[in-house]
Amino acid sequence: MTSVARSALKAAIGSVAETVITLLKHTEYLEGGFAVNQLTHNLQSGWLAEQAGEDDEVVVAAVIHDIGKVISKPNHNNIVAEIAKPFVRPDVYNMLLAHQDFEGRFYYKYINKNPDAYKKHIGTSYYELTKRFSDEYDQKAFDPNAYTPSLEYFIPKIEKVFAYPKYSCPPDLEYVKSDFS
Ligand SMILES: [Fe+2]
Ligand SMILES: [Fe+2]
Repeated sequence: MTSVARSALKAAIGSVAETVITLLKHTEYLEGGFAVNQLTHNLQSGWLAEQAGEDDEVVVAAVIHDIGKVISKPNHNNIVAEIAKPFVRPDVYNMLLAHQDFEGRFYYKYINKNPDAYKKHIGTSYYELTKRFSDEYDQKAFDPNAYTPSLEYFIPKIEKVFAYPKYSCPPDLEYVKSDFS
């Protein structure tokens, strides 16, 4: 790989965290009929996950779990899961992908969808993590009176998790891995 290609690759990877943070900022403008806007919701979710002692991948996943709503609310789980896939372990990817089915336990009945959709995930390796995320960090993160950290508080963890696509590493990236460590 040429030095120019290496620089371009490094710049492309480096911009993922920046893009995620930009999407997160835009969630401030999504109200969606909830008691708090979606930025507050995401930040409270990350805070609850962190306070519960979750590792950095889960905390960052919680902080960003609804950023896909900036692009498409019905597909927001797919969007955020695919953005995060190269940077988080498979169970965390699947947690992001499945989280809407678990939240559906609380509201799918109001929109003519099956509230038992989450049951198709029973028995999977990510079931307990996703249920814990939904029950403890997602569903409880709509409190206008709860403590909400700033977005800046989570930037170091977001930059750390998105620093290198360690779960999807083509040979060319292995070559430049040392540039990111
Ligand atoms: Fe969601
Ligand atoms: Fe959420």
